[in-house]
Formats: sequence, structure tokens, C-alpha cells
Amino acid sequence: MIFKVPRGTQDILPSETWKWQQVESIIKDVSDAFRYKEIRTPIFEQTELFQRLVGETTDVVQKEMYTFTDKGNRSMTLRPEGTAPVVRSFVEHKMFGIPDQPVKLFYVGPMFRYERQQAGRYRQFVQFGAEAIGSADPAIDAEVIALAMNVYERAGLSDLKLVLNSLGDTECRKSHKDALIAHFSPHIAEFCSDCKSRLDLNPLRILDCKVDSENPLIATAPSLTDYLNEDSAAYFEQVKSYLDDLNISYEVDANLVRGLDYYNHTAFEIMSTSEGFGAITTLCGGGRYNGLAEDIGGPSAPGIGFAMSIERLLLAMNAEGKSFDEEPTLDVYIVTLGDDAKRPGFKLLNELRKSGIRSDMDYMDRKMKGQMKSADRLNAEVVVVIGEDEVAENVAMVRNMSDGTQEKIATSELVEKITSSLKR
Ligand code: HAM
Repeated sequence: MIFKVPRGTQDILPSETWKWQQVESIIKDVSDAFRYKEIRTPIFEQTELFQRLVGETTDVVQKEMYTFTDKGNRSMTLRPEGTAPVVRSFVEHKMFGIPDQPVKLFYVGPMFRYERQQAGRYRQFVQFGAEAIGSADPAIDAEVIALAMNVYERAGLSDLKLVLNSLGDTECRKSHKDALIAHFSPHIAEFCSDCKSRLDLNPLRILDCKVDSENPLIATAPSLTDYLNEDSAAYFEQVKSYLDDLNISYEVDANLVRGLDYYNHTAFEIMSTSEGFGAITTLCGGGRYNGLAEDIGGPSAPGIGFAMSIERLLLAMNAEGKSFDEEPTLDVYIVTLGDDAKRPGFKLLNELRKSGIRSDMDYMDRKMKGQMKSADRLNAEVVVVIGEDEVAENVAMVRNMSDGTQEKIATSELVEKITSSLKR
């Protein structure tokens, strides 16, 4: 075989797409219940959008973007995440002017990151994300977290852990940044070249560096919690108390900093605690991003959101041994014997399909026995047999496959009688 699916991507074959469709339908139901409306943005955007919003010093921007120059000599990037495009669209379409604020949006679509392939980490993956833009109410932080948890619960997952932190506002971030620089500066020679360049620009990124994660200085680094000012601490307390109201349990982890630059105040991740789950345990990540709309020339529009990949959700379902609903089987299989029967069979097939009945027939010139085997393999509920005698009499033999009973039915009544006899 000369061609293979690109590294880090996968073909989702029909036996799997059925699972995806079920998960997507849970996502749509839950988003609908929370009044989040679907938004679809392009798969590529101007590179600068991600550089500015996700952050120049992040791994995503520095190492993982699929960037190309288009024929008009513009730098474009396949979206590595959905928040920057959604905020771009929010500002561009002046959604801040819609009376019903906050604007609550969700998306499901492919994202692209050039990462090292491993279980649960792909170069193309599908994110379900939700964003609530326009409100700084701590209750909406809890709502967004509840939305994510609801999706996992509806998917049958129970081995979950919600981890929470507050990154504070700009003022706390500044004093924490100074403390980090003071902490790392004397030992920066021990760190990778990326961390060296991050030290002055964005020392927070040293804390989630994949190369230096084992360096003991990371564990002893000054914690953001100690730098939270009164307002930020009060905000965090309120978010926690709203979560308590919803009976959503959480752990506070002062080391949770998230890998993208736009966060402030609430940051959270939902992990799988299932034993069968691989090394990467994060199922979902999100947080608040109050300055983002302003950063691209929009008005002040505080936002919060999350994203989860469907790939990891399915892996977690697998690890917890969750089963899926049975795939729908075929309603009707039409068996025809001889050339004269094929045409009326083919016409009947079309009539059934127009009435929404899942039906099929043989296109491989199989004998009667072979056609019956196909009907069996496809688990058809009803088999319609049309032979030369039936054609002559203008009837068809309709067999119910579960109890073996059969009945001759006039051609003109076939669609109606079959429809009413089907279980669904
Ligand atoms: P993120 O933490 O970069 O955040 O990604 C969120 C989720 O996307 C992860 O928890 C994981 O489920 C999934 N994910 C990320 N990279 C991969 C990968 N290579 N393969 C499979 N799944 C992956 C964001 O993207 C933010 N935009 C989330 C957000 C929305 N924050 C606020 N609003």
C-alpha cells in the first residue's frame, strides 16, 4: 500500500461513526438544554489571530501550528483551537449588541496541532467547545462547568475529577510573574532553550513545559494562590460556592495554569480517573478569558468556556466499559428472482425509501439463497420476496423474519402494509 492516513490522524470507519453520532447527539441535546447555540467558523484563520490570542510563547503557537502561505501571500493557520475564532466572530458580527447577553455558543469541529502522536493525542482531533461571552457573573463559570459535566454524565462516565484554580486578574498575574522570574532566574541554565526565552516574556509557561516538567524547581515555584488579590479571591470563592450548589465536587490545584495565554480567574480541567485510561488523563480544559475581545479591538466582553475532544471522550467511555446503543438495522430486504422480478422490486425499493423505510436489495446477481443470507447478515426485520409468479399475480410475499410468518400482499398495498407492520 503506497498511501496511508497521515500520522496523528485517523479514518473513522462506519462501525465507529455510529458511536460518534451518538456522542454528537448527546452534545447537541445538552447544549440545547443550556441554551447554547451552534456556531461554525472556518477551519483556517489568519495566523496572527492565534499568535495574538493564544499567545506567542505558548507551545501551541511556537511548535504546533499548521501554518501555510496562501496564493495571495497571506499567512494562514489551520485552527489549533476554537476560542480565538469564536471571539473573532463575536467581535466581527457585533454579537455584543444582541440583547440576550451573555451570548452562549457551542461548536463541534476538527482542530489541528502538530504534536507528538500518542494515545489520546492526535494531529487532527474534533473538539466540542462551549463559550459564554458577555458576562462576568461567577454563576456562569459554574454553568459552563456543569454543561461539560452533564455531557460526560449523559455519556455514562463516572470516573471523573474536576480540578479548579484561579489565575487571578492582571494585577495578581503581574506580581506572580515577578515572583516567578525571581525564582527561576538563578537556575535558568538548567532549563530548555524554550524556557530560557520564556523567562522574561512569560514565565508562567515554564510551569507547563513538557520538557522540564520533572525539574524540582517547578514544584517549588511560587503559587498563584498566594498572589490573588481580594477581588480575585472573592470571585473564586463565589464560583466554588455555585459549584457546591450544583453538587459538583472539585479539587483545587494551585499548579493548574493551562497552556494557553488568554486565561484569567477561573481555570479548570476535567480528568478521567479510570484505570484503563492512558497516560494523558485530561478530558476537558477551559477557563475565563476576560480581556480577549478587547485584545482584537472589540469592546469589553468577559468570557468563559471549555473544550473537550470527542476522541478522548470515546477513549474514556471505552476505559469505563460503556456500551453504545445498538446500531439501527435494516427494516426491509427485497429478494427478487429472475429478471422480470427485479424491476418491480427495484421500484418497490424506491417507494419504501421515499417513505423513510431503511431498505435494500441485491446488486451482486446472487441466487435466492445468497440473497436470503444477505438479508440475515443485515438483520432485516422484513423480507419481501418477488418471483415470476408474484409478478404475474401483482403481489409480493412478505416474510416477518422474527417469527417466520409470511403473507401474500397486493402490490398496491405493499408500502402501507409493510410500514404499519414494522416495529419502529
Ligand atoms: P486545550 O486545553 O488546549 O484548550 O484543549 C482542550 C481539550 O481539547 C483537551 O482537554 C483535550 O480534550 C482536547 N485536545 C487538545 N489537544 C488534543 C490532541 N492533540 N488530541 C486530542 N485531543 C486534544 C483549548 O483548546 C481551549 N480553546 C479551551 C477553551 C475554550 N477555553 C476556553 N474556552
